[in-house]
Amino acid sequence: MDGSFNMESHLEAAGGGVDWEARYHAGDTPWDKGAAHPALLERLTRNPLEGDVLVPGCGAGHDARAIGAHGARNVVGLDIAPAALNRARAFSNPAGLEFRLDDFLTARAHLGFDAVFEHTCLCAIPPARRRDYVAAVARCLGNGGLFLGVIFTNPDNPSIDTPPFRCGLDDIEELFSGLFEIQEIRHGIPTFPERTGREAWVEMRKRPRTNA
Ligand SMILES: C[S@@+](CC[C@H](N)C(=O)[O-])C[C@H]1O[C@@H](n2cnc3c(N)ncnc32)[C@H](O)[C@@H]1O
Repeated sequence: MDGSFNMESHLEAAGGGVDWEARYHAGDTPWDKGAAHPALLERLTRNPLEGDVLVPGCGAGHDARAIGAHGARNVVGLDIAPAALNRARAFSNPAGLEFRLDDFLTARAHLGFDAVFEHTCLCAIPPARRRDYVAAVARCLGNGGLFLGVIFTNPDNPSIDTPPFRCGLDDIEELFSGLFEIQEIRHGIPTFPERTGREAWVEMRKRPRTNA
């Protein structure tokens, strides 16, 4: 997904309530670069993800596929659009990689993951539902679980109606710091050419549950 999301699209601007299924059917998916994110590949080469990993809003599954190919035990790619999952399943996928159809914000069935990987899912969620996104990440992770990935900060989009929604690092800290201990926020990451300077890499750990 790019800041020019709607301009690149040959469909009308869809607003926050994007019909993702229609976009995949129309082949109108400018966010799909046909490859895993370069910053993810760099992280996996340096420090592979082990255990069970969830990728919400996985689209065609390029990131989930790369995580599986680098040795994660089980990887689940989750998406709300059946056509995205059809696209994902059509690839040659490593053992242990599974694609599931569900709404990440409301699903209750995907639990106990060691890591959740984010890439262009959060920026697709209307800002009013971001707390649901954070709660979903926390729900899917076990204690000490890792939330990591690429935040599409998209500083040039002032719109609160049209994705990809701007999500600054101030927003990230405000949203996540209650439930997560932020370990890394880094600009200047390897990325696709047109996204330079518009993303950040984050890593954070879910805090142990307290009774307070
Ligand atoms: C901009 S696309 C990015 C897809 C993929 N991460 C990529 O980089 O190619 C956003 C994806 O999130 C999915 N999505 C949006 N809302 C969702 C939700 N509530 N639960 C699960 N998936 C969702 C869409 O269907 C779409 O595939």
